[in-house]
Amino acid sequence: MNIRSVFQAAHPVETHDSFAADVIAGLTAQPKNLPPKYFYDLAGSALFERITELPEYYPTRCEIAILRDHAAAIAAMFPPGAALIEFGSGSSRKARILLDAAATVAAYVPVDISGDFLQQELVQLERDLPHLVVAPLVADFTKPFAVPDELAALPRVGFFPGSTIGNFEPAEAGAFLRHTSDMLGAAGLLLVGLDLVKDEATLYRAYNDAAGVTAKFNLNLLARTNRELGADFDLSAFEHRAFYNAAQRRIEMHLVSMKRQRVRINGIDIGFGRGETIHTENSYKYTVESFLTLARNAGWTPAKVFSDGLFAVHALMNLRSGIQQSGPQ
Ligand code: TRP
Repeated sequence: MNIRSVFQAAHPVETHDSFAADVIAGLTAQPKNLPPKYFYDLAGSALFERITELPEYYPTRCEIAILRDHAAAIAAMFPPGAALIEFGSGSSRKARILLDAAATVAAYVPVDISGDFLQQELVQLERDLPHLVVAPLVADFTKPFAVPDELAALPRVGFFPGSTIGNFEPAEAGAFLRHTSDMLGAAGLLLVGLDLVKDEATLYRAYNDAAGVTAKFNLNLLARTNRELGADFDLSAFEHRAFYNAAQRRIEMHLVSMKRQRVRINGIDIGFGRGETIHTENSYKYTVESFLTLARNAGWTPAKVFSDGLFAVHALMNLRSGIQQSGPQ
């Protein structure tokens, strides 16, 4: 195995202390919230895998089908000898479709804050594509980060699948697109997977599956707080609630307290009213046009949109001239 051992942590990554501080800060705020980045511990990641296989959760299936159907057209846009940089790689399944179609890609750089890369899949990639350098990077991709020195000279293609950009506030999504355009450099290409605005019933079902896996995934935030911080959340006294906020074009995820109760976390008592909610995540939906406007305002030139009407994969190009490709900072 010659996977480059995880190169560098460009930013401080999650620690036990920051988890505790973030949980206390969120639960003492008004309205209460918990940061969604804590969804993805081992248990949460396994539950999310199951979500992607649910009959109601169409985005993963749609995106994979779009990537498969258009792999050749997408690969044709890659500059030769590129580094494919994936933002937030839980599994390399989607990148694999692109790597198989774009034979000239020289390096694959999955970037993840947790560092819990699926080693197994990365080993398999190197085995199947021996010319490919696989260089996982631990970094918070919501902030600018440096590409490893030995890959710095390669042209860059960014890949941000899963409609994860929809989990950002629109202003944050704009900021992300801007700093990504600096990072990918002039002539850089960015592929973004995005869930589309659609009828409310379809959206609602995707986040309220009959088997209750999404509820379990949401409640895992509380279970994790119990496991890691010794909190005493009674999971049966909280309920998953997800609904479409049409005015804001977003699915909102909440955990609702079913009764008046107190919870003890790290020696601190937190009171909950009956019906009080903890806001855990938003999943913004865009129209093709509303996203293109966001992308243009962030300095990108839309090149192509691949869509099945439910989900879209946007190819954006950085056509700014005279801007130096930013190297390692
Ligand atoms: N990026 C996914 C989405 O917004 C994450 C997700 C799917 C999710 N189901 C969820 C987040 C349920 C919280 C709760 O579609």
